[in-house]
Amino acid sequence: MKNFSFYNPTKILFGEGRIKDIAGEIPRESKILVTYGGGSVKRNGIFDEVIAALPGYNIREFGGIEPNPSFETLMQCVEVVRKNNIDFLVAVGGGSVIDGTKFIAAAALYEGEPWDIVKTYGKVIKRALPFGTVLTLPATGSEMNNGAVITHRASRTKLPFMHPLLYPEFSILDPTKTYTLPPEQIGNGVVDTFVHIVEQYLTYPANGKVQDRFAEGLLLTLIEEGPKAIGQPTDYDVRANLMWCATLGLNGLIGVGVPQDWATHMVGHELTALKGLDHAKTLAVVLPAMLDSRREDKKEKLLQYARRVWGIQTGDDDERIDAAIRKTREFFEIMQVPTRLCDYNISADIIPAIIEQLKTHHMNRLGEKMDVTPELVESILEKCL
Ligand code: NZQ
Ligand code: ZN
Repeated sequence: MKNFSFYNPTKILFGEGRIKDIAGEIPRESKILVTYGGGSVKRNGIFDEVIAALPGYNIREFGGIEPNPSFETLMQCVEVVRKNNIDFLVAVGGGSVIDGTKFIAAAALYEGEPWDIVKTYGKVIKRALPFGTVLTLPATGSEMNNGAVITHRASRTKLPFMHPLLYPEFSILDPTKTYTLPPEQIGNGVVDTFVHIVEQYLTYPANGKVQDRFAEGLLLTLIEEGPKAIGQPTDYDVRANLMWCATLGLNGLIGVGVPQDWATHMVGHELTALKGLDHAKTLAVVLPAMLDSRREDKKEKLLQYARRVWGIQTGDDDERIDAAIRKTREFFEIMQVPTRLCDYNISADIIPAIIEQLKTHHMNRLGEKMDVTPELVESILEKCL
């Protein structure tokens, strides 16, 4: 296991009815801005519940943060924050609203060109407003990590950034708030969580036995509970387990002391930037081909994954790896997330543009061994058609 420091200050308030505890987490004199997305939280009552839980507070709101939040929209919010001297943000929504709020928290106090925050992957951040979240879509782990992914629409650039000041102060995880999610978003959330875990687990052995067993436990839980979440949308225990899986999948815990990959995510971001495909859908398309093409480098962990996660015991090494990749693809399809580019009416024409984007964004050496080159990505994408 490699040396590591682990720090995660986010306080989790988990369970039904926890929105009412929000006031205890925000200083009384705060000037609050509640941020949200396209309006689902207004329609399903979550927004009103948040406001009702903050009696006597000075509150403003900013809605319209879109999926794959854009720099352009977020800068409008930064103006509102500055003009009204807002000093605490509350994000109510999924990963996009939370990520967007992280950008707002940093940009509101940044004196230079705000896009530099993203362009430098967060390195220029010196200060950020405090913020909390009310999660409505289990998927990204953003509710308990310090990362965000923002899109510059004008230049079709989607990049991640992170900073220790961007952990939420608190996150409310009430599984009943996910009951209104359409099946498509449940599928997206399960696939995104699955791939987060895989990107930290399916690399090469590092003797991180605890991390491996945690990762395998989370994957097994997703495989068991994911399909139930589509069939039984108001089953509390199913939603509770998925929500906690998503948070633990990307709050740092399983990734400490072990190599991490993230090539699938970086290629996926380019697909979203160019084609507007949902984040999880890009992962469902890219991951099976990524694993197939890198099977030699990942051989030991792929065999461990086949055995411990999918119970595959028979066949030679290649047959077991084939079976594990097939099972992975089948699972995504069971979650109603198609796994081929053609399922989304995307043809081979897109491949050169993705390769160009990767080069422009300096993504020339991806993966745990930094050996995933644009040329390799090209051959991987040809398998995704
Ligand atoms: O915008 P509203 O109207 O709220 O509707 C949303 C949106 O249309 C809807 N929704 C959310 N909660 C709902 C609901 N509808 C009904 N009932 C509810 N309870 O779901 C749609 C998708 O929401 P979004 O927030 O975009 O989804 P998700 O949570 O999957 O977030 C995706 C974004 O997170 C980034 C992705 O790149 C993408 O931009 N990621 C962030 C990460 C991080 N910060 O660590 C890591 C991830 O790998 C990921 O890259
Ligand atoms: Zn993701």
